[in-house]
Amino acid sequence: MALRLSLLAALGAVCAAQEEVRRLKFLTITSYDGTKLNADASLPLPKTPSDRFPVVIMANSWSVPQFEYVIQAQELAQAGYIILEYETRGWFFSGGEIDCAGEKDQRDISEVISYVLSQSDWQADPGRIALAGISYGAGLALLGAGRDPRVKVAVAMSGWSDLQQALFKHNSPNLVWGEVLVVMAHVVGKPEPLLDEVWRQVLAGNVTAAQSFATLRSVLPYLPALENRSVPLFISNNFEDRLFYPEDAVALYEQYKGPKRLLLNQGVHASAEIGGLFGLPNNHVWLEVKKWLATYLKGEPGPSPPAVEMQLRSNRAVREQFDVWPSSRLQRTTLVPSPRGRGFFGSLVPKGQEAPSTAFESISFGKMTGINGGLPVIGELMQVFVDHRITSNLLLSSRKHAIWFYKQVDTERLCGTPLLNLDMTPSHAKWQVVAYLLGVNRITKVGTLISHGSLTCWNCTAGQRGTYQITLRTLCEDLGGLGMGGIGLALNMYSALYEPANSEEALTMDFHYSENFSLEIPVAESKSPSILV
Ligand SMILES: *[C@@H]1O[C@H](CO)[C@@H](O)[C@H](O)[C@H]1NC(C)=O
Ligand SMILES: *[C@@H]1O[C@H](CO)[C@@H](O)[C@H](O)[C@H]1NC(C)=O
Ligand SMILES: *[C@@H]1O[C@H](CO)[C@@H](O)[C@H](O)[C@H]1NC(C)=O
Ligand SMILES: *[C@@H]1O[C@H](CO)[C@@H](O)[C@H](O)[C@H]1NC(C)=O
Repeated sequence: MALRLSLLAALGAVCAAQEEVRRLKFLTITSYDGTKLNADASLPLPKTPSDRFPVVIMANSWSVPQFEYVIQAQELAQAGYIILEYETRGWFFSGGEIDCAGEKDQRDISEVISYVLSQSDWQADPGRIALAGISYGAGLALLGAGRDPRVKVAVAMSGWSDLQQALFKHNSPNLVWGEVLVVMAHVVGKPEPLLDEVWRQVLAGNVTAAQSFATLRSVLPYLPALENRSVPLFISNNFEDRLFYPEDAVALYEQYKGPKRLLLNQGVHASAEIGGLFGLPNNHVWLEVKKWLATYLKGEPGPSPPAVEMQLRSNRAVREQFDVWPSSRLQRTTLVPSPRGRGFFGSLVPKGQEAPSTAFESISFGKMTGINGGLPVIGELMQVFVDHRITSNLLLSSRKHAIWFYKQVDTERLCGTPLLNLDMTPSHAKWQVVAYLLGVNRITKVGTLISHGSLTCWNCTAGQRGTYQITLRTLCEDLGGLGMGGIGLALNMYSALYEPANSEEALTMDFHYSENFSLEIPVAESKSPSILV
């Protein structure tokens, strides 16, 4: 009996911690230029007139309606937060045209904050405001926090720091994702003419157009203001995201000097956090988001989390944890490619052991190279949701249109961002080089894609030798055993993922085996105690 009573008391305590919640649908927020934005709110019920609640404002993802966060909004409101989610201009039933996170969208955020603060019966605390969101909403959260000093905390799930990196990284047009975004905007929204125009310019390789579009939407110029106010930034991105790449999240994290946290999860764009939107329990990203909000908006104590956390590709139960970043546990190893000569492939040799060489080898442009970057979008989804990985049989790849290098490895954990240095002479002014990092089967030489990157020049000088660098996609992956017992680097001049700058058959590229042709990989020297989630 006593036990039952105490159980009931305990239950009562749990229930008491949950606020009663009121939901307001179909709110209309009139922005500075008269544009009407759709919104809804989940509100804890005040018990006394002096109650003040922290606020979290969430903007929609690209082509997702405003009620996308409703399940999380409900839970957060029960935990005592005022939640307002809204549909940015141009989408669904909000007025105006899609501004692609430009000046108008950024001004709207401040209007939305003012709206929440002006609802006196909501009893919002003006000193405790957070912006949070996924994808488009994540980018807007960072931009809004940078611009509006009323914002204390920002949470960005699958967001960007610089759109140039998303649509035009190393000047390679992100063909498939770009098309998807443009089409979706036309289907469920009203884009400004700017969107089609910028995309047309990007496909044509207009670097200036891409830069001026991206600069107005970049988080980077706001970092000094965010640092000045010590805004705690929570950044979460996914390794297989081919739109907002993990290496850009790492770069943003490294550049920001304020309080910060970085989660890198396995998954495609937004997939690691999407379960939380459908109410699946124990979604890791949302659990961590809630801890972040509780720490910085409610001052709740808790164990301090690892600064950087990376989920392992080959065993998702493992999350590598780094309390400091850059971590001394990660050693950068340099491998140097050597000529393939008459063989199938060249080797990768640890730096310092390579034979000096003045040689170069050439490949020419061709679309059928036998090296697979994955079916755009479908291939990415397949490898994440049904674990069907992107593979290439390297022995069957085209000698003419591709070249690859190989090294047998022992058990090795790669976590971080690989870097490829190239020393090349193109035959033409316009060209593109695509690089693939593979875990390779020791016997069959079937390679599994573990990272990739691309570099395009729209305006080089034909015949002029130059050095270049490609930041490859960040990874956290174990190599070893038979199936992944080697590391491979493959290069070609075409992938269906990107718009090529030049498709002439006569286009060739010479790769010079100089000190400027090398691959840097991040090797974990020791493994961190892993947590199971
Ligand atoms: C490239 O874009 C800029 C800025 O949008 C524009 O002024 C210029 O005319 C474009 N160049 C070409 C060749 O279309
Ligand atoms: C930093 O804050 C101070 C004081 O609030 C202000 O005067 C200064 O302009 C701020 N600097 C930046 C880069 O925001
Ligand atoms: C290409 O480069 C040349 C020389 O550097 C420059 O004069 C020209 O304006 C560039 N063209 C474009 C479209 O950027
Ligand atoms: C490597 O690149 C550097 C800088 O680009 C250059 O000075 C050097 O001569 C290059 N080395 C070779 C062997 O080409």
